[in-house]
Amino acid sequence: MFRLFARRHFLIDLKGTPENFFLKRVGFASTSSVGRLEGKVALITGGASGLGKATAHKFIQQGAKVVIADIDAERGPQVAEELGQKAHYVRCDVAVESQVAEAVDLAMARHGKLDIMYNNAGIPGRSVPPSIADLELEEFDRVMRVNVRGAMAGIKHAARVMIPKKSGSIVCTASISGVMGGLGPHPYTVSKFAIPGIVKSAASELCRHGVRVNCVSPFVIATPLVIDQFAAFYPSAKREQITQVINGLGELKGTKCEEIDVAGAVLYLASDEAKYVTGHNLVVDGGFTCFKNLGFPIPDQVV
Ligand SMILES: NC(=O)c1ccc[n+]([C@@H]2O[C@H](COP(=O)([O-])OP(=O)(O)OC[C@H]3O[C@@H](n4cnc5c(N)ncnc54)[C@H](O)[C@@H]3O)[C@@H](O)[C@H]2O)c1
Repeated sequence: MFRLFARRHFLIDLKGTPENFFLKRVGFASTSSVGRLEGKVALITGGASGLGKATAHKFIQQGAKVVIADIDAERGPQVAEELGQKAHYVRCDVAVESQVAEAVDLAMARHGKLDIMYNNAGIPGRSVPPSIADLELEEFDRVMRVNVRGAMAGIKHAARVMIPKKSGSIVCTASISGVMGGLGPHPYTVSKFAIPGIVKSAASELCRHGVRVNCVSPFVIATPLVIDQFAAFYPSAKREQITQVINGLGELKGTKCEEIDVAGAVLYLASDEAKYVTGHNLVVDGGFTCFKNLGFPIPDQVV
C-alpha cells in the first residue's frame, strides 16, 4: 500500500528529477539560491569580534539583516561597514539592562521585527589568582554581570518583542568550560555552566509562545579573547606562536576548531531548519568533552 502511494507521488512528480522529488519530500528547496535566513532580522551581542563577527558575516551571507550590539565603539562601526549595508552597529554594554533594551528597540524601529537574538558577548575574567581560596568576589560579580546577567537581559528583551509575534529564535554562547570543570578561571566556568540552565528555564516557558531558546558550547578558538588570555602565560611568545598552540589543543585529528564552525552551528539553531529544536546545548568541540583517559601506569611500573 505504502509502496503504491509512494509510486503514485513519484509519477506525479516526474516532471522534476527523482532528486527534486526527494528534496521536496524532506522539505528542502533543491537548487534554490535563497538564503537560509532570507528576510530575517538578527541582533548579535559581542558582534564586533571573534565568534560574533563570524556569525554576523554568515547571517548576512544567508540573507539576514544584522544589528551588531557591542561595547567596542571603535571596532563595532568598522565591522558593520566591512559587512555592508545589511549590518548596523549599536553601542551596547550587555551588563547594563537599559542598553540591551535600547538595542532591541533599535532593531525593532529599524526593521520592524526581531527574528533572532544571539547573546554572545562574554569576557574571560582574570586567570590569576588561580585558587578559589583567593578569589575576589568583585571579580566574580564582574564576570557574572556580563556573561550571565547580560545573556539574561538579552533573553528578557528578545522575549518581550518575540512573544507578541509568536515566533523567534534565541541563541546564547556557552562554552566547553560549562561542560567540564577546570578549563577556565572559576568565575568564567561558573558563568558558562549557568548558560545551558538559563536556556532550559527560558525554553520551558517560551515554547508556549513559539519562541525557541538554545545555546552553543564551543571548543577553544584563537579569537582575541583567547589569544590575550594565553599571552599572559606565554609573555614572550608571538601571537602566531600562541595561535599555533591553541590550534593544536583539539582531539579531532586533521582539523581545528574555527569561528566558522561555531557560526555554522548558530546558523542552524537560528534558522527554520531547527524549527523543533529548543532547550538544546549544541557542543562544538570535536569530541573533547566526550571522554577522559584513565591514567593507567605502563606495565613496567606495575610488575
Ligand atoms: N574563543 C573561544 O575559544 C571561546 C570558546 C567558548 C566560548 N566562547 C565565548 O564566545 C563568546 C565570544 O567570544 P570570542 O572568543 O569571540 O571573544 P572576542 O573577544 O573576540 O569577542 C567578544 C566581543 O564581545 C564584546 N564584549 C565584551 N564585553 C561586552 C559587554 N559588556 N557588552 C557588549 N559587548 C561586549 C567585545 O567587545 C568583543 O567584541 C564569549 O561569550 C566567550 O565566552 C569563546
